[in-house]
Amino acid sequence: MITGKVAELLESTQYLQEVEVKGWVRSFRSNRFIALNDGSTINNMQCVVDYEQLSENTLKRITVGAAIKITGTLVESQGSGQKVEVQANAVEILGDADPEEVKYTILSPKRHSLEKLREQAHLRVRTNTFGAVMRLRSKLAFAIHSYFQQNNFHYVNTPIITGSDAEGAGEMFKVTSFDLDNIPRKEDGSIDYKEDFFGKETNLTVSGQLEGETYALGLGQIYTFGPTFRAENSNTSRHLAEFWMVEPEMAFCDLAGNMDIAEDFIKYVLKYVLDNCKDDLAFLEERQANEDKAKPEAERSAMSLTDKLKFVVENNFKRVSYTEAIDILKSSKPNKKKKFSYIIEEWGADLQSEHERYLVEKHFKCPVILFDYPANIKAFYMRLNEDGKTVRAMDILFPGIGEIVGGSQREERLDVLKQKMQALDIDEKELWWYLDTRKFGTCVHSGFGLGFERLVQFATGMGNIRDVIPYPRTPLNAEF
Ligand code: 4AD
Ligand code: MG
Repeated sequence: MITGKVAELLESTQYLQEVEVKGWVRSFRSNRFIALNDGSTINNMQCVVDYEQLSENTLKRITVGAAIKITGTLVESQGSGQKVEVQANAVEILGDADPEEVKYTILSPKRHSLEKLREQAHLRVRTNTFGAVMRLRSKLAFAIHSYFQQNNFHYVNTPIITGSDAEGAGEMFKVTSFDLDNIPRKEDGSIDYKEDFFGKETNLTVSGQLEGETYALGLGQIYTFGPTFRAENSNTSRHLAEFWMVEPEMAFCDLAGNMDIAEDFIKYVLKYVLDNCKDDLAFLEERQANEDKAKPEAERSAMSLTDKLKFVVENNFKRVSYTEAIDILKSSKPNKKKKFSYIIEEWGADLQSEHERYLVEKHFKCPVILFDYPANIKAFYMRLNEDGKTVRAMDILFPGIGEIVGGSQREERLDVLKQKMQALDIDEKELWWYLDTRKFGTCVHSGFGLGFERLVQFATGMGNIRDVIPYPRTPLNAEF
């Protein structure tokens, strides 16, 4: 008897062997064909049952969504589409799914909108789309660890609860141990954090970078891969309040080295899914092609999903300084009626997503690494250039996604870092431990942060970031 996952059995050539498969019924046709899915692959195992052999009770309980066990013989499939099928000898119902209730859920076999699927996030993983997306997400996570482990990076777990705001953007969720019925207050009514269990204000981390830097300055090359939180009230298809970030940090590495590693890393993980997720990618590619058909010509994807991934893997990213990018934007001829209507007037302005999209999708038509941004639109820790007004920052922009990576060479000079913090009103006492790294054996070092969900979006072609994480946390959605 072979007991195996459908993914393995579909590849098997051990015909006429006895097999046992367990999974959920996707469809049941003519009282004869059960399509069984066990999550191991997008493909169902077709099981052929002889309904005359089954009791009436069993037969009526083979319904869409039910969990069942089938034992039978693995045979070469007569139909097209798959090599093998199971000639069932016995069907055991493991968990019923009442059709009267199923019909009100997204398990009912018809097309449901992605919005509808989001309302039943606990069941959507049983659909083909979410099965494919979540398997791909898992493979990408594995590829991320593989890349860094193969290249001598150490995996570091940075704190989730922290006292510092790494990005200085003030987009933090507070953490407190207060008794909510009895919050200690100062005379002016504000919360008295001194009374808190931690004795200070704490928040959920927005980035593990600062702690990561301290570890890079000891372990040489590290990476983090964990949840990060941003209390930004943005309802866009690219933002979550809780998202996963990959943050490598390298000692003795400058901005050019940082860009090289980021590009090499992204190419590796995308190549990994091209090589290892063929069935899921084929499904997602067809899905995107179908979606495209419903769109006006101008909004359709220029390339198929796999061609898009191959293009990124095989071509160099274009490296452009912020100043060059501004010149390009200034001399562009935006179509006021269409997307790219906002022209940059001044050097020093932050780029809006429409500018980023113009550069990537219209001008260069490939991934772009923008570097050397104006100091005053970037975080305090970035290395100041000799011109005194730009910093060694880099953002990687992807077609259809926008910013997928943000990183920089770090300011390693204690005096310059202190001046920067002073100018931004960042309390040195809060970051004494961070400043210590610049006192004791400071060195040139760099790192970046990659938004994992944005990477999954790119690799799956999913338009909305809420559809690439099991339980999206957004301002209007934290029910599950
Ligand atoms: O550009 P960010 O804010 O950079 C940092 O946090 C640095 N400390 C990283 C570093 O140098 N170690 O965020 C990095 C990336 C962005 O490029 C984007 O891909 C993603 O994180 N990101 C988000 N993804 C989903 N939802 C959000 N609200 C995100 N905010 C940032
Ligand atoms: Mg950024």
